[in-house]
Amino acid sequence: MTEHAGASDWIADRGEKWRAHVTRMESTLMPVDEPLLGALRLRAPSRIAEVGCGGGGTALEVLRRAPAGSVVHGCDISPTLIELARARMTPDEASIAFEVADMATAAPSRPYDRLVSRFGVMFFDDPGAAFANLARWLEPGGRFAFAVWGRPSDNPWMTTVRDEVARVVEVPRADPAAPGPFRYADSDSLRSLLEGVGFAEIDVLDWRGALPIGGDLPPAEAAHFALSSFSSFGELLARAGDDAFDEALHALTTRFSLHRRDGAVRLDASVLIVTGTRR
Ligand SMILES: C[S@@+](CC[C@H](N)C(=O)[O-])C[C@H]1O[C@@H](n2cnc3c(N)ncnc32)[C@H](O)[C@@H]1O
Repeated sequence: MTEHAGASDWIADRGEKWRAHVTRMESTLMPVDEPLLGALRLRAPSRIAEVGCGGGGTALEVLRRAPAGSVVHGCDISPTLIELARARMTPDEASIAFEVADMATAAPSRPYDRLVSRFGVMFFDDPGAAFANLARWLEPGGRFAFAVWGRPSDNPWMTTVRDEVARVVEVPRADPAAPGPFRYADSDSLRSLLEGVGFAEIDVLDWRGALPIGGDLPPAEAAHFALSSFSSFGELLARAGDDAFDEALHALTTRFSLHRRDGAVRLDASVLIVTGTRR
């Protein structure tokens, strides 16, 4: 995950990088599915679209949990991630489909009952226009649930990695308003954006939980995964020469060793589950 990533980054290197680490990324983020999918309130067969579905893990989970007769469509701007998501479908799965789409501008063939996103709505170049477009994807009265990251200080799964990298190389300061993971950490800006484009009954749940870094990895492997896949840390370290990665790896492994619990390295996270309906 990069600190600054717009649509064009996800079509190119960001998409490729996510794909390279997708299994470990999805294992890390899996605890978020429970509160996110619960917030969708799937009580009857529904048509559900996912914004920024990545490699498809959440869409497949939605289909598993949704009432029989539901249909799930995962949409992502990255062709390589959609290719991967399609490869994970079983041949007889008629109720799920994955499409390449820029959700900032694409129009649905027909509006949906539910719209869901796990960390896929923070990267729009023009958020006002993009959220206005997303409103067109929901039926009037239809419900959405979007997961976005809370404040960096409440997300040590990321700041612990960043701090150790910053001891070795200079890490550029993040612009909180630019496209990137922490853009809506102050949920007021997202709330007013949504209210301004036709959404109502906005609610924000601050979910707190621990994320298993890379799934069930021991500290050294979890540290290697985090340095290689989070933000642009791997690229920054590579540019600084051969020893930089090893130095950060050693320090991060020591930090991660302090957080080993039940067979995984677990660090705290704050995720805002933003819900509402289309007016
Ligand atoms: C942080 S990743 C999350 C992927 C997936 N939801 C998950 O949790 O595993 C963000 C995703 O949003 C997608 N994305 C970014 N901008 C997009 C846009 N304008 N339209 C559709 N997808 C977009 C990216 O390609 C990427 O797959």
